[in-house]
Amino acid sequence: MAHISDLIATDINEYLRAHEHKSLLRFITCGSVDDGKSTLIGRLLYDSKMIFEDQLTAIEADSKKFGTQAGKLDLALLVDGLAAEREQGITIDVAYRFFSTDKRKFIVADTPGHEQYTRNMVTGASTASLAVILIDANKGVLTQTRRHSYLVSLIGIRHIVLAVNKMDMIGFSQEVFAKILADYCEFAKQIGLTDIVAIPISALNGENITEPSDKTPWYKGPTLMHHLETVEIDDERQAGPFRLPVQWVNRPDQHFRGFSGLITGGKVRKGDRLRVLPSGKESKVARIIGSAACGLAFGENVANAKPQAAEMDEAVVEQSVTIVLEDEIDVSRGNILARADALPAVADQFEVTVIWMAEEPMLPGRQYWIKIGAKQAVATVTGLKHKTNVNTLEKLPTRTLELNEIGVCNMSLDQPIAFDPYVENRDTGGFILIDRLTNSTVGAGLIQSALRKAENIHWQALEINKEAHAAIKNQKACILWFTGLSGAGKSTIANLVEKRLYSMGHHTFLLDGDNVRHGLNRDLGFTDEDRVENIRRVAEVAKLMVDAGLIVLVSFISPFRSERRMARALVSEGEFIEVYVNTPLSVAEARDPKGLYKKARAGQLKNFTGIDSAYEPPESAELVLDGSQLSPEEAADRIVRYLADRESIREMGLDFSI
Ligand code: ADX
Repeated sequence: MAHISDLIATDINEYLRAHEHKSLLRFITCGSVDDGKSTLIGRLLYDSKMIFEDQLTAIEADSKKFGTQAGKLDLALLVDGLAAEREQGITIDVAYRFFSTDKRKFIVADTPGHEQYTRNMVTGASTASLAVILIDANKGVLTQTRRHSYLVSLIGIRHIVLAVNKMDMIGFSQEVFAKILADYCEFAKQIGLTDIVAIPISALNGENITEPSDKTPWYKGPTLMHHLETVEIDDERQAGPFRLPVQWVNRPDQHFRGFSGLITGGKVRKGDRLRVLPSGKESKVARIIGSAACGLAFGENVANAKPQAAEMDEAVVEQSVTIVLEDEIDVSRGNILARADALPAVADQFEVTVIWMAEEPMLPGRQYWIKIGAKQAVATVTGLKHKTNVNTLEKLPTRTLELNEIGVCNMSLDQPIAFDPYVENRDTGGFILIDRLTNSTVGAGLIQSALRKAENIHWQALEINKEAHAAIKNQKACILWFTGLSGAGKSTIANLVEKRLYSMGHHTFLLDGDNVRHGLNRDLGFTDEDRVENIRRVAEVAKLMVDAGLIVLVSFISPFRSERRMARALVSEGEFIEVYVNTPLSVAEARDPKGLYKKARAGQLKNFTGIDSAYEPPESAELVLDGSQLSPEEAADRIVRYLADRESIREMGLDFSI
């Protein structure tokens, strides 16, 4: 819906043209319903004539029935659908509302203000250039004001409007306003917010919203709307270095090959020398093609519209373009095009800030997908340094991040990527984390700096490789990964299998959970995050042993699918053989060889698998052995046969008698 203007009636084409060329300001409002946030947004929509007649009639009627303004128009009712949904327990992400004036178009992200909605606020703020921080003049700067401001600064919003609302309730007092502004500025300085415009308003009565109020003669600044219409936002991004994350390689036929995407920084001209990252290849810009407006007169049939591709000499930030290079060089989705004289860095290890957005806590050591621009890679948190108390900004030690928590950590990727620090570019320095099993977004993050440059660490090429190591042992290396509950029989079976392989002259090694926890993993307990780390380490060790040509037997509960999958991915196809020792809990508990189930039931042992800690059974294990039906010897037979069938081992007239 567009702004209602006289032009619509007189010259609709001129109106549409003007509308199309207006700049767009995305902003976020921070505050709670009590501060008058809904009323303020309702007021902006109302004053910019963004309310349909029928909506207005409905609000007039509702205001009489439910309104809080003694029958006067209650503009909060316009946007309070959000609050109502919240009461019903419906999760709302962010409500985006659109309005426009003669000068500008606006998208306002409306997010709930409470701490449990931190993730929503971060989402809403992530694309905003300005934040309106709402303060109730009766209450002044509150904890939540500080929290909102911290989040806003973290997300990289530099322009702040401090909207001191409900000025009518404090008699439009200049002193109170000045005190609030002084309080706020003192705090804002600490978090690096300096561009602050404070406006005394009454959202309810429309004071200083679109028209200067005669109640605040002492206030000489702009009205809220005037400021929103005129604040300069794009300059900094245009002045930055050119960045085009490639979203699509456009290749309709063999004569054309262009790289399409949205410019997220700076500008580019024909003839500029560009470099493709991370590969580092260079070429010059031959053509820049933008997707021009459809050239459709109002009322014309949409079917006639031909989206014309317009050649341009220059393109700037926020434009979607296709770039054709002079030379045939390799470029693929997820690469970044940058000017050769102002390059992003390339690295695979970073210090990052993460905002956790999932119910399931973040587990250092677990692998997540990371998506940065159009690039996707695998990321692991290798060290969690601290979390930040969002209300006090205090840094606290932690081993995990819970929903809505913010922490600083080291992160390692499976491949080098091109990036900019987030403070320099929110697009090439910001990322999301995705759960690899559920595909849901679990976190958002900002790159602070690279920990090491990828080009400084190389793989040492080894001449005696895995195959050579295995061949001299007359076997194919592999991992037999035993998983199952404590007491399922994993170690007993693994032990038998190892004895048989040994007797056949094979080179094996058995990594057993209980044993490894006495040495390499003695610092780990049984919380989810410790188990993740336990498995990560043992998987890496098993991989090294595979490289040494061994048949490795790993006997760990390894309760989580995600980590077993990670272990599988460390070795080549076919080298990971998951053996699920499927013994029902009741059977394992009845055996209770170490008396641990008894302790767990008595509450003396916390986080015990199957009791108060989860076990996620494999979905497609290579071998499933019913530990309640098969004897350990029968189970071992099956495994040795499986290895013989896939020719990992020589069958030397198999002697199963040991
Ligand atoms: S894993 O979950 O991280 O893979 P791991 O296989 O190393 O566990 O260790 C499991 C062994 O530790 C069990 O066989 C049991 O002897 C012992 N143990 C002690 N406490 C626990 C617990 N809370 N949960 C499971 N096993 C425990």
